[in-house]
Amino acid sequence: MKHKPLLLQLYVCMLFISGLTGQQVWARDSVRIKAFALGVPKAELHIHLEGTLEPEHYLKLVADNELEAKYATVEAVQERLLDQRDLNSFIEVYEELLSAMRTEEDFYEVALAYCRKATSQGVVYVEMFFDPQMHTARGIKIETVMQGLIRAQTKAATSLGLKLNFIACFNRDRTADSAAEHLENLVPWQEVILGVGLDNPEEIGFPTKFTEVFARARELGFRLTTHCDVNVPNTLAHHYGAIDLLKVERIDHGLNVADDPALLAIVKERGIGLTACPTLLYLDLPGRMEARAGAVKTLLEAGIPICVNSDDPGMMRSLYVGDLLAITVETADLNRDQTLELARNSFRIAWLTEKKPRTTSHQLTPLQKIIRFLSKEKNDMGI
Ligand code: HPA
Ligand code: ZN
Repeated sequence: MKHKPLLLQLYVCMLFISGLTGQQVWARDSVRIKAFALGVPKAELHIHLEGTLEPEHYLKLVADNELEAKYATVEAVQERLLDQRDLNSFIEVYEELLSAMRTEEDFYEVALAYCRKATSQGVVYVEMFFDPQMHTARGIKIETVMQGLIRAQTKAATSLGLKLNFIACFNRDRTADSAAEHLENLVPWQEVILGVGLDNPEEIGFPTKFTEVFARARELGFRLTTHCDVNVPNTLAHHYGAIDLLKVERIDHGLNVADDPALLAIVKERGIGLTACPTLLYLDLPGRMEARAGAVKTLLEAGIPICVNSDDPGMMRSLYVGDLLAITVETADLNRDQTLELARNSFRIAWLTEKKPRTTSHQLTPLQKIIRFLSKEKNDMGI
């Protein structure tokens, strides 16, 4: 069993190489596109720990923690997931299911289960969101959450060769005071929490009410990002505020940037990364995937550093990132160079703490080798 992760990585690598050959069949061949999208090394930058919880795993946590069993079967949990109509109703489901996570072991297991899945999808680096307030509000100590996550980080590195870091998200429908208090409590874990973000519904007051918290986070050395969800009221004003007031380096989702040439120019000029999620919701609306994949293409062609991510694959019953990249590529009819560019972008806008590559390649860590490989010109790669 010791060699399983190595064999898995070899397998995805072979899929990638098989996808590299045969430019002429690319546009029409779903199998090759899938092989390439799964195998190309990727960083996942928009994934919520809590949203990776699969119905099966939720039921296991309910049993392990001897909680009241609201749902008898996986199908019953899936039925509950169908109640998602919009972001607010999604968050209701999200909060209900994540409440089964109680112990350090639970946080460890959920994070590690995701890492296993991500490895099979060609992901080698992850910056994982988690929602500290959703746990402390239920009486779970931040130490319990962090100790589980740090154990998962170590296990992912040693058993999967996957590097895992974290981003703490504050909830936009809670107060700025609560965010400020949690921020100070996260300082002891700054080595593994690279940055802070904002999620949950875009209540009135976003982004202005978080200006001071973000200034303090920046002063403490945290990197900054925020969700700007797609097609919400006042979305363009929210994007401008996120950039001007919060001074974020990345925007999570951010697809409405494609709607405003002035905003697009600012995002491009400042090199702000977009972590897009052309997520297939359980209840997908007709034309939604086409619109989102089309916006990814528009932004990519405009030179914005954008990448594809999976958001909440467990709870939205959506796809993991390799499969999602393949569907995005097919839907928007992206060519192979554009697909590779999405993968490269995921490393360009990552907050990697790896030191600068040293000169001789045998001194590089596996992750540094992948980044060097992806940053070479396409002709050097023989494609
Ligand atoms: N947007 C806002 N809040 C969230 C999301 C999202 O995509 N996923 C989990 N919480
Ligand atoms: Zn999200």
